[in-house]
Amino acid sequence: MIMANTVAIGDNIRFLHHLADKFEKFDVIYIDPPYNTGNNFSYNDKRSTDDWHDFMTKRLKLACQILKDDGVIFISIDDNSLYELKIVCDTIFNKSNFLGVFITKQAVRSNSKHINTIHEYILVYAQDIKLLEDFKIKRLNNAYEAAMIGDISKKVKTQFNLYGRASALKLLSELNEENMKKYGITWLRNYSEIDEKGEIFFPKDLSVPGTPNELFIEEINLKLPALKTRKWSSPQKILRLHAENMLHFKGNRPYEKHYLKDSYDNVVSILDFYSRQGTNDLVKLGLRNLFDTPKPVELIKYIIRISTNGKENAKILDFFAGSGTTGQAVLEINKEDSKNHTFYLIQIDDKVAENSLAYQFCTENNLTPTLDQLLIHRIKVVVKKIKSNYNINVITATDL
Ligand SMILES: C[S@@+](CC[C@H](N)C(=O)[O-])C[C@H]1O[C@@H](n2cnc3c(N)ncnc32)[C@H](O)[C@@H]1O
Repeated sequence: MIMANTVAIGDNIRFLHHLADKFEKFDVIYIDPPYNTGNNFSYNDKRSTDDWHDFMTKRLKLACQILKDDGVIFISIDDNSLYELKIVCDTIFNKSNFLGVFITKQAVRSNSKHINTIHEYILVYAQDIKLLEDFKIKRLNNAYEAAMIGDISKKVKTQFNLYGRASALKLLSELNEENMKKYGITWLRNYSEIDEKGEIFFPKDLSVPGTPNELFIEEINLKLPALKTRKWSSPQKILRLHAENMLHFKGNRPYEKHYLKDSYDNVVSILDFYSRQGTNDLVKLGLRNLFDTPKPVELIKYIIRISTNGKENAKILDFFAGSGTTGQAVLEINKEDSKNHTFYLIQIDDKVAENSLAYQFCTENNLTPTLDQLLIHRIKVVVKKIKSNYNINVITATDL
């Protein structure tokens, strides 16, 4: 058993070997390795192509060993090494487990004379695509849909409380039309009903493919004739929905309530997160200039959420942890979604350059000027901010 919420300080190869030896397994691995851009970052980002290939291959082979059978790995990368990385991953995880590449926004403009590259990528592989749950995201976790859903729900509920059901239903239909036009979406049309509390839901049909059958459920006195081409959902399911107050009747026919506030969306390959937001996230914690290339917290929350839908206690590993964005993402999800996920972050204890603002920050805050100490500091600030009680287990290679 690994201990909850761990920060491991040192070269990740050491810890990856250890985790593999101990048969530890993770549900989600996210990494943001050095892209080999040749830039002067606080970490080494200049290797020969062969060295980078070798460096990544060794680590990804171990990552594959410690990924659960129904687990998934996300790898951030940009144009510098996308193709090398794809080939390495196709070999290690197998081409058949390649799920796709996300495109994320990198910057508004670069200064290139030819192509201003404003995006980067996240490569995604399953350990075994057949065992992986579908990816989906709660619409309430998608900023503009959340705003739209919040707005419609509030207006309809107010109308319901003031003027009753018929009036609220009329308003709902008008608002749905308006929003469908505005955002070019069609799914809203389904959310056409309101329950006894003024909450909006989609009455979902309870038939499934199969040989048509009559249905009789004595407990709730439900008698339904056979449909023309499909059979009814099982009596067990209908009884469960009845017990949970999730059945809606139109005439004598039952439907399952799907609430707008709980609705999910499919995942698409272009994501709307700016890398620059990562820097703003640190500023919001009062940690300006701490790190060169932090990822946006919401981006990491998004990929964790889509890949851990049904899981309550997912184990999440980031072995190029940098400023600890993945740690913050896990802690925020636990708080917001009432989950109990744990993180395992690995970060090498490279020194912070003496002439850097991060070095100055370390001096001012009494921190040893190494990258791992900045990460730990960030996690402590996050724990304080979200007012949670977390013990962070800090280990080094000598503890193994
Ligand atoms: C691109 S940054 C990750 C940024 C991170 N995603 C964030 O949001 O802050 C890569 C990090 O991996 C670290 N790193 C590089 N080689 C490493 C190794 N062998 N073991 C552990 N960490 C390493 C670097 O020091 C750097 O902090």
